[in-house]
Amino acid sequence: MTRSTLTYNPAGVMFPNTGLSPDDLKALAARLDAARKEVLADAELWKNHGPVPAAKEPLDAGFIDLPDRLLAEYAKDRERSELGRILLCAKRLSDAADRLVVLGIGGSYMGARALFEACCHPYHNELSRADRGGYPRLYFEGNNADNDAAQGLFDLLGRKPKFNTVDDRWAMVVISKSGGTLETAVAFRTLLGALREATGNDAQKLASLVVPVTGENGRLFELSKALGCRETFYIPDGVGGRFSVFTAVGLLPAAAIGLDIIKLLEGAAAMNEHFRTAPVEKNVVLQYVGVCQLLEEKRGLQTRVLSTWGKGLEAAGLWYDQLLAESLGKQERGALPLTVVNTRDLHSRGQQHQQGRRDKLITNVIVDQVKRDRISVGRSDLDQDQLNSLAGKTLPEIMAAAIAGTNQAYAEDERPTADLHFPRQDECSLGQYFQMMMLATVVEGRLIGINPYGQPGVEAYKKHMNAYLRK
Ligand code: PA5
Repeated sequence: MTRSTLTYNPAGVMFPNTGLSPDDLKALAARLDAARKEVLADAELWKNHGPVPAAKEPLDAGFIDLPDRLLAEYAKDRERSELGRILLCAKRLSDAADRLVVLGIGGSYMGARALFEACCHPYHNELSRADRGGYPRLYFEGNNADNDAAQGLFDLLGRKPKFNTVDDRWAMVVISKSGGTLETAVAFRTLLGALREATGNDAQKLASLVVPVTGENGRLFELSKALGCRETFYIPDGVGGRFSVFTAVGLLPAAAIGLDIIKLLEGAAAMNEHFRTAPVEKNVVLQYVGVCQLLEEKRGLQTRVLSTWGKGLEAAGLWYDQLLAESLGKQERGALPLTVVNTRDLHSRGQQHQQGRRDKLITNVIVDQVKRDRISVGRSDLDQDQLNSLAGKTLPEIMAAAIAGTNQAYAEDERPTADLHFPRQDECSLGQYFQMMMLATVVEGRLIGINPYGQPGVEAYKKHMNAYLRK
């Protein structure tokens, strides 16, 4: 089993007047420990189907031991287990089609997108099938009602394509826990029509190229039965949308594009072990919650900037934006999450973060090892750009200097920063990160008395939108 290797260093928040002192964190330790115990007790309660007190409804604590359960069942039952079935289906899809469209919105797509952007080649969809390792290209739809974006996807898939070889074929994973989300349902109906046409109205072919992931009842569930889909995956009760990345919601698209979902789950399980057993002062989940909460309460830092260094983690940050916003943005409370990508956004948001309102905690997400050979600055006869003085410096060295320089600039103005380190940008680190942030969010909810599960506020827009449409 992989050990937790994510590290969290809040040294950059320790300022006498605008930040914290180590004693502040020590003083919160007992409450953090109590919140951890409550979260673990919630997980037990959910597992044992115990009666849920009204104040805890809904209690979607099923995500907590999900990675451990999936791995244990796979070790025992291999292909008959949920994970085994996901792996088989992913292989079937990737052998059958060159383009895979994932339909879903919110928690039903953001995890898969985060994995795609963080772990695949940055130009995966532009590579030849051979250079993609035989895995399909990946597209996301059903996450908006944007006409021209959808038409763009149709252009790509081809309205009347040949459908004989793998290069011509496309397939769909349609994801909706409720089964009734309008954006996803409309995209599904539209694309289903196109796929039906492409398969020449062959119902069996169609049923093999559509894989629904949904709850065990609802409209999508009924539709998948009517279509006779070869496989349907279920999102278990007790696992909410934004906590579902370790169900088929995240695992199936990830496995279909060749990502190692066992390593992903091992990373998450390692984070679980760390969360359960590490003392408060060494516990990355609890230290992260403690720093965020104390700075919000004592210093009014209500904006939490997740500052990702490098291009591949933007979607992982957006996944966290959704998790935090939908979980704790309730009862007129909840910090504002904001993902930035640096060094890019030093040239857009940097000014405000350096000198704007003092309402921000900046958490840097730093990847320690690059995956590819290091590019270095070359020496040139044309030194008008004066880069010869930097000849031999590598891009990782330039990035490290940017991180250190930015942290120093913030420190000089007593702007709090903390660093979250990934050893590599890979499945194992992403698994740890997802589980760390999901645990942190529910711990914080328990700490401040907000139920992190459910999103009653999202229903209002849906109600009004439907009313306008049916007028
Ligand atoms: O976290 C959540 O529950 C939401 O963000 C949902 O994932 C999102 O609203 C999509 O819902 P559904 O999967 O039911 O279509």
